[in-house]
Amino acid sequence: MPRRKLTSQRKLEHLQIVAHEPIESVSRFGDVELLHRALPEVNRREIRLETPFLGKTLRVPLMIVSMTGGHPATRRVNRRLGEAAEKVGMGIGVGSQRAALEDPHLVETYRVVREAAPTTFVYGNIGVPQLRKYGVEGVRRIVEMVEADALAIHLNFLQEAVQPEGDLDARGCLGMVRQVCRGLRVPVLVKETGAGISREVALQLRGAGVAALDVGGLGGTNFALVEALRAHRRRDRLQEHLGRVFADWGIPTPLSILECQGLGLPVVATGGIRSGLDVAKSIALGATAASAGLPFIKAAMTSTRMVEETAQTMVEELRTAMFLTGSRRPRDLRRAPLLLTGRTREMAEQRGLWDPRRARAPRGTR
Ligand SMILES: Cc1cc2nc3c(=O)[nH]c(=O)nc-3n(C[C@H](O)[C@H](O)[C@H](O)COP(=O)(O)O)c2cc1C
Repeated sequence: MPRRKLTSQRKLEHLQIVAHEPIESVSRFGDVELLHRALPEVNRREIRLETPFLGKTLRVPLMIVSMTGGHPATRRVNRRLGEAAEKVGMGIGVGSQRAALEDPHLVETYRVVREAAPTTFVYGNIGVPQLRKYGVEGVRRIVEMVEADALAIHLNFLQEAVQPEGDLDARGCLGMVRQVCRGLRVPVLVKETGAGISREVALQLRGAGVAALDVGGLGGTNFALVEALRAHRRRDRLQEHLGRVFADWGIPTPLSILECQGLGLPVVATGGIRSGLDVAKSIALGATAASAGLPFIKAAMTSTRMVEETAQTMVEELRTAMFLTGSRRPRDLRRAPLLLTGRTREMAEQRGLWDPRRARAPRGTR
C-alpha cells in the first residue's frame, strides 16, 4: 500500500480501536486533593471562566485535544467536534495533518473544523518526525489549511517505538522545532501524546522558542496499548509484546504538570482528564487550561449535541470545584490548599517538585 494510503488507513483504525476497545491507563488525579472550604464566600453564579491563551480568550479553560482528520470518514466527526467547540467556547485541535500533506484530497477532513468553529481557538497539528520532511514551508501550509491560531507539534516517540511503521530516528528534532518557531507567524505549542514532558525537556523547548506546552501525560488514552491491539490484529507478536510492556511507560499527567509549570510558559493539562474536577486539580497544580480527547471523540460518534453535553457537564463540575474552594476565577485555584498523596507525591518529592507548604494549615494555627 502507498504511504499516503497507509497513513489515512491508520487514522481510521485508531478511531475504531479507541471507540470499542479498553485502551485507557489509570489516571493519577486520585492522588491530588483540593481542600474543601466550608465558607467559600463566593456566589457560584459570579464565577468567571474566561481564560486568555496564546493571544485569544477561551470562554472556558477547556479544549478538545488534537485527534482526527485524514480519512474521509473522519470529516463528520471533526465537524461535530468543531460545532460543539464553537458553541461552548472551547479551543479545539485537529489531528496530525500529515495525511493532507501526503494527499490534498483529505484537506477537507481538517478544514471542516475551522468552518464549524469560525471564532474559537483552533490549532493545527504535525508530528516532530515529519518536520524534517516537510520543513517550515510544509508547516505554513498546515497552518493555512485550518486558518490556525497556533500550531501543535506532537512528540510521540513511545508510539513510534512500538509501531512497525514507526520513525525511530529522533536526531535533530529540537533544531527543527526551533526553526519552525522562528519561521511561523503563529505561536507554537509542543505536546506529548501520552508519555508526558519532563522539566529537562520543557527547558529545552522553552529555549527553542515554543509558546506553550501541553503535557500529554500518562493516563487516559494509551497509544502503546492502541498499537498493541493493532499488532494483535496483524498477528505481529513482537510489536504486540512491546506495546504491552511499555503500556505503563511515561510521566503521569499530574506529575508532568508540576514538571512543566513555573517556567513562564502556559501549560495545558492533557491525558486522562475525565471531569471538571480533574480540570480544577490541573489548574491548581499549575496548568492554564486542560484538554481531553477520548470522551469527546466517543461523543462525536453520536452527535454534536453529545459533545456539547459532555463539555457542559465538565464545565459545571469545574464551577462546582471552584465554588467549594472559594475560587472566583480559574487562577484563584492556584492558591487553594492542595494535597498530594501516594505515588504522585513520592515521584514529585524525588524530583524536588513538591512544596509541602502548599498543603499546610496557616502558620501559627497548628
Ligand atoms: C483517536 C485519537 C487520535 C489521536 N491523534 C492524535 C494526533 O494526530 N496528534 C496528536 O498530537 N495527538 C493525537 N492523539 C492524542 C491526543 O491528542 C491526547 O494526547 C490523548 O488522547 C490523551 O488524552 P485523553 O486521555 O483525554 O484521550 C489522538 C488521540 C486519539 C484518541
